[in-house]
Amino acid sequence: MENLKKLEKLYEGKAKKIYKTNDEDLLWVEYKDDATAFNGLKKGTIVNKGVFNNLISAHLFELLNKNSIENHFVKRISDREQIVKKLDIIPVEVIVRNLAAGSLSKRLNIEEGTSFKHPVVEYCYKSDELSDPLINEDHISILELATGEQVKEMRSIALKVNEVLKKYLEKKNIILVDFKLEFGMHKGKVMLGDEISPDTCRFWDAETKKKLDKDRFRRDLGGVEAAYEEVYKRLVGS
Ligand code: TMP
Ligand code: ASP
Repeated sequence: MENLKKLEKLYEGKAKKIYKTNDEDLLWVEYKDDATAFNGLKKGTIVNKGVFNNLISAHLFELLNKNSIENHFVKRISDREQIVKKLDIIPVEVIVRNLAAGSLSKRLNIEEGTSFKHPVVEYCYKSDELSDPLINEDHISILELATGEQVKEMRSIALKVNEVLKKYLEKKNIILVDFKLEFGMHKGKVMLGDEISPDTCRFWDAETKKKLDKDRFRRDLGGVEAAYEEVYKRLVGS
């Protein structure tokens, strides 16, 4: 690890840059301040988002590790950078919901904040051209995005992540409304990857129900930076 070198850029996404390293199995991730919404239609900058998301993500991945949920996180190396294991990405986003919000509230006309009797798992096809459409297990099969076994494993890991994060965040006075996960294959196993941050989760203050996540940017609610900083302080800063 000490001699790990950052090599050429492999990929630049909406929120992160990914670099090769001199270790075949490891990637170098740099978190950016860029923010997009609605499949890139809305663009902006959230000052220091890259720092907060790197710190929050690293912290939550470590929490999952301690709870025997393996993931790609290896080590945080600076305010904006972390080292992760290289995964063969499965092009499916897995969403877990505890309360109605966002696209589910719209699609099914369920008031935001309505709680469910059990978590709801959804899948989206990672495709910029198609704007990440909602898909089901049959669609995943015909498109050959993942095998039935892989879908089962992603669902099972996602529900475990939900239990661990929900309980942990409760202690920090945060309601875990919903979140999105991404997975890939690592040495023949399905492994959790990407990030877990206010960009990819809905976090509400337990008392006031104030939104402490990217919805403040998506919906022009103001106080965006402050919300990311608040999550950081509650999770990592104490
Ligand atoms: P949704 O209600 O807009 O479908 O979002 C569900 C969850 O997924 C929410 O926590 C935000 C997260 N999410 C992403 O991480 N990336 C995305 O592109 C979208 C649309 C949602
Ligand atoms: N990933 C989405 C986009 O870039 C943003 C979001 O709503 O989270 O448009």
